Amino acid sequence: MFRPEDDPVLTEMLSALEHSPEVLALRVRVIELQVERGLFTEALAQCGAALTQEPGNAQVLGLLQQCTIALASNNSGALPVIAPPEQNLDEYDFWAAAERQVGDIIAPAFVDPGVTEFATDRDAGTVARPAVTLADVGGMAEVKRQLELSLLGPLRNPALAKAFGTSARGGLLLYGPPGCGKTFLASAVAGELGANFYPIEIADILDIYTGASERNLHSVFEVARRNAPCVLFLDELDALGHKRSQMSGSATMRTVVNQLLTELDSATSDNDGVYVLGATNHPWDVDVALRRPGRFDRMVLVGLPDPAARAAILHYHLRDRPVTGVDLSALAHRTEGFSGADLAHVCTSATQLALADSLRTGEVRPVTMPDLESVLADIKPSAAAWFESARNVVEFANGDGTYDELARYMKARKLR
Ligand SMILES: Nc1ncnc2c1ncn2[C@@H]1O[C@H](COP(=O)(O)OP(=O)(O)O)[C@@H](O)[C@H]1O
Ligand SMILES: [Mg+2]
Repeated sequence: MFRPEDDPVLTEMLSALEHSPEVLALRVRVIELQVERGLFTEALAQCGAALTQEPGNAQVLGLLQQCTIALASNNSGALPVIAPPEQNLDEYDFWAAAERQVGDIIAPAFVDPGVTEFATDRDAGTVARPAVTLADVGGMAEVKRQLELSLLGPLRNPALAKAFGTSARGGLLLYGPPGCGKTFLASAVAGELGANFYPIEIADILDIYTGASERNLHSVFEVARRNAPCVLFLDELDALGHKRSQMSGSATMRTVVNQLLTELDSATSDNDGVYVLGATNHPWDVDVALRRPGRFDRMVLVGLPDPAARAAILHYHLRDRPVTGVDLSALAHRTEGFSGADLAHVCTSATQLALADSLRTGEVRPVTMPDLESVLADIKPSAAAWFESARNVVEFANGDGTYDELARYMKARKLR
């Protein structure tokens, strides 16, 4: 039994981890300490969390295996189900081994099929059509209403939109805390339009060589134009911002921003049928020039999931896993304040508890409510830091009303 007063080192590491749950190295250190002290059950839960952060991390997989073997041999009579790997741990595929043992009922399910892959060969003109539509997005009635009003409606009824003097021109910027469905919504919009979908992560087109980022950006738009109608989705748009950019030479970044402005500008480019959607967790880091009229001038807040969205997200993450007696709506009500990413983490950690049991006994033990409840006790909502930044922006940098929607949202939820 772990008593904090007996172990100041581990206690200190745990509290550091609580403050910075996203730092994987910290979590790995905690696991190592727990393993050294024989706290295998606790270590196992941390392994689950670490693998959610970085699936396939070899060091964590090695530690996870130490835990399962130790737990299995503690359990008198039962033999370790998995033999120690003969080859180098780095190359040992724990999940493959686990699956071979347990059968194929438990899927690792680290792959998120919600988002289609970007066609890697940008010039081949091959594009993905996402299978998801807005109906697959749980809850989020307000976001859907806004998407309908500012994008889908005008596209479906161009004549009517014209009569009202509106159009779907210009880009729409989705913003909000991480893991709450921005990328997912963008692919749903493409699915809704029956349009080709080009998800581009801005960081992927940035290149340290002079001029290469601009050329990459231009070719992305060219492919999109050739394949119109399509949705060009520019994810993590803040990567072009000066403040957060790792490419610190902001002069370089300036030319990339200018290139993007040129591509977006319908006077210089033929963007008919190219619907540009952007997303960012940090809209305040997006270059202001990009938010002027005709560019990303409409912003839609994608906030924390409501109970219906949480139930949909939980369902989605448990769908390929063996579960029994799981009450989604009870869980949805107990997870107020959790982001989509937090909920995915809950599901993965609970699955790992069941998997560990299954490995110990050699029989499949499905995920149960107690598994989910026990991981819920350890997982704290992660969006607090985001709302901390958002609060400052709303208080001190909302002179032009850009963040009125965010301000209302936070006020209604007593987040400010
Ligand atoms: N409303 C929702 N309904 C169903 N699943 C959702 C919903 N919101 C998020 N998800 C799930 O959570 C995952 C993470 O969301 P994502 O779109 O990547 O977040 P973001 O882009 O805001 O960081 C999605 O792939 C999807 O599986
Ligand atoms: Mg995203």
